Amino acid sequence: MGYPLRGLLFRLDPERSHELALTGLRALALLPSLAERLAGRWRVDDPRLAQTLFGQRFANPVGLAAGFDKDGVAVAALPALGFGFAEVGTVTPRPQEGNPRPRLFRHPGAESLQNALGFNNAGMAALAARLAAQRPYPLPVGVNLGKGRGTPPGEALADYRKLVQRLAPLADYLVVNLSSPNTPGLRDLQNEGFVREVLGMAGGLTDKPVLVKLSPDLGEEPAAALAAAALEAGAAGIVATNTTTDYALLPGAREGGGLSGRVLREKSFRMLRALAPAVSGRGVLVSVGGIDSGAEAYRRLRAGASLVQLYTALVYRGPGLVRRINEELLALLERDGVGTVAEVIGADLPS
Ligand code: FNR
Repeated sequence: MGYPLRGLLFRLDPERSHELALTGLRALALLPSLAERLAGRWRVDDPRLAQTLFGQRFANPVGLAAGFDKDGVAVAALPALGFGFAEVGTVTPRPQEGNPRPRLFRHPGAESLQNALGFNNAGMAALAARLAAQRPYPLPVGVNLGKGRGTPPGEALADYRKLVQRLAPLADYLVVNLSSPNTPGLRDLQNEGFVREVLGMAGGLTDKPVLVKLSPDLGEEPAAALAAAALEAGAAGIVATNTTTDYALLPGAREGGGLSGRVLREKSFRMLRALAPAVSGRGVLVSVGGIDSGAEAYRRLRAGASLVQLYTALVYRGPGLVRRINEELLALLERDGVGTVAEVIGADLPS
């Protein structure tokens, strides 16, 4: 379960260790020959894991969730970690500092994190420049968009418009993030009226696939209704879920910020099950929250997700994790006599 650097990283403040990990990946992104050597160790190349979705080839269904590489500094290094795709951001129109530190906390006993970062990022112009410099990407890259902290609700649509205009040309897919708990008022935009408006706006500006990222705290029925409305309004899919503010899930949780990791697992799974009848087969369902093994990824695929993402488990399990998940997925396909990952998607949905 441990990994060689974990002892060192866990002695540091959580945000410092994140910065250190990202600096390492950024360096790797600049050293293609080393990245290629590590890719040999951590990447699983097997056509049974591959899918084509929105016209893009996903070499495997395991992606890096938003928030790890907010400024898109490490895209070129991510295939070396074994990922099949990556979501950068959340990016806001202008650079912003986020909330005062400390704002990221570990709950090691529960393999969970609690973050109140508040969309700290370098802004859309910086992200656009970084992405442009890394094209062609070595894996599909989603760009996760968020409104600025100081933007009043009435101007949120204008923020998303600027972001879509600037970043759609550089994205393989876009995600409208309406579900971070750390930007005041953001989650109130999870209503049918706004979702229709934002998707209508985006559809008028770009042909790129646009997904909506939802909170696990919405409630399962309202989330399913909202997802159905989003698809009707042109969404290519749903990312579920963001972090939770259900602090009762973790004794010892502090007030404020969002919980991720193992404590979120069942809540995220229940949300997937609630969304699948409306979304699976019509749009792409991306399941995220507490995924840390091949068995869990397999459970999400069978429940209707086409892709999965993770963040917190990478912190606790280290860089070998994605390889293990992909190898376990292959073993599970063999156990069940199934040819490809694509064939198990939605296998557990009632027909
Ligand atoms: C996140 N997450 C996140 N999500 C998002 O849409 N935009 C963001 O900027 C961030 N930032 C962020 C920072 C940190 C430190 C964490 C731990 C998480 C949420 C993330 O993408 C994911 O939805 C949840 O963390 C659940 O997945 P895991 O972490 O349980 O695998």
